[in-house]
Amino acid sequence: MKNDTLCVHGGTLKCDTTRAVTPAIYTATTFSRSDVGQGCGYDYARLQNPTREHVENVVAKLEGGFASLAFSCGMAATTTLMELFDGGDEIVASEDLYGGTIRMFEKVLRRRGISIVYSDTSDLSDLSSKITRNTRAVFIETPTNPMMHVTDIQAVAQLIAGKNILLIVDNTFLTPYLMRPLELGADIVIHSGTKYLGGHNDCLAGFVVVKNAELEDKLRYFHKTSGAVLAPFDCYLVARGIKTLAIRMDRAQQNAAKVADWLRGQKKATRVFYPGFADHPEYEISKKQASGFGAMLSFETDTEETARNILRNVKLILFAESLGGTETLITYPTTQTHSDLPDAEKEARGITRRLLRVSVGIESAEDIISDLEQAMG
Ligand SMILES: Cc1ncc(COP(=O)(O)O)c(C=O)c1O
Repeated sequence: MKNDTLCVHGGTLKCDTTRAVTPAIYTATTFSRSDVGQGCGYDYARLQNPTREHVENVVAKLEGGFASLAFSCGMAATTTLMELFDGGDEIVASEDLYGGTIRMFEKVLRRRGISIVYSDTSDLSDLSSKITRNTRAVFIETPTNPMMHVTDIQAVAQLIAGKNILLIVDNTFLTPYLMRPLELGADIVIHSGTKYLGGHNDCLAGFVVVKNAELEDKLRYFHKTSGAVLAPFDCYLVARGIKTLAIRMDRAQQNAAKVADWLRGQKKATRVFYPGFADHPEYEISKKQASGFGAMLSFETDTEETARNILRNVKLILFAESLGGTETLITYPTTQTHSDLPDAEKEARGITRRLLRVSVGIESAEDIISDLEQAMG
């Protein structure tokens, strides 16, 4: 089945005998038994919940994974995933990552004795130089947030093959509709389901998708132990969001291409970071591993004043954190998504006071561009 069909028909509610077209929202926290040793496969909702199984099935199928686990948000998914690692282990991560992931690496993982080493994972020789015999995972975001670097997943998988290193890919930006990292050699995919999967800026969610039963077993144990599971109503909202994922992504990325082209012609936008430009350094890699370029872009303005004016003056576009919803959002990474990074590090990564990030939504591209035009002044 093609991915756009899976978005609509991918889920099965195992226990439902009603043939209902949409999944029921099971709110029960516990499930009764008819006798000792007799059960229906459900005990307590932190362990199993039918509505959660439904959305987990859809996401696993879309990613081509063995199984998926639904978490209360993307950070809960990533933090719980890190339970796979012990003190003394090293993780090599893309240096340009979502700020919350960096915060967790720096403030939580380091305290547990896990080392984090950052690499420009789009440069294989840099990545290769960072791998040691203690490396247990390579953690990639592609395209990266907010600088839109792209990493060749297949090449990384080949580089670390046979070294007992897990390849973890945050696929939040492209979604399985545009890219399936497990098919490119990744072991684990994570998602902030809050973004494109949910798609309507109305619920937090996170997913870990694994390629085999061994990883599923380990992670189910941490999932039920941490308890950071997705609540039934939110499972329903994400499953509903996924039904329109394909058409939302199609429209949002068409709009993004138009906005990126327009921005490139503007004097006040000195640099535009968008993987769909033919002169983007990793354009060919994007074309090889994904069926689209997504709907995220960043741009640098001529002055800090211009950046601030845009944020102050946008009317249709909303000045807000997050991404992947129907509404176009503009974000100021330096004070929002990446506020916790020291100033010097932000500057080194290109996250200056002149950088703006746009999550292009599904409105009319013409309206989005007119709004940016009037806001830029
Ligand atoms: C790429 C990426 N990964 C993970 C997260 C964390 O997800 P959540 O906010 O759902 O916890 C975010 C949040 O913005 C993100 O942008």
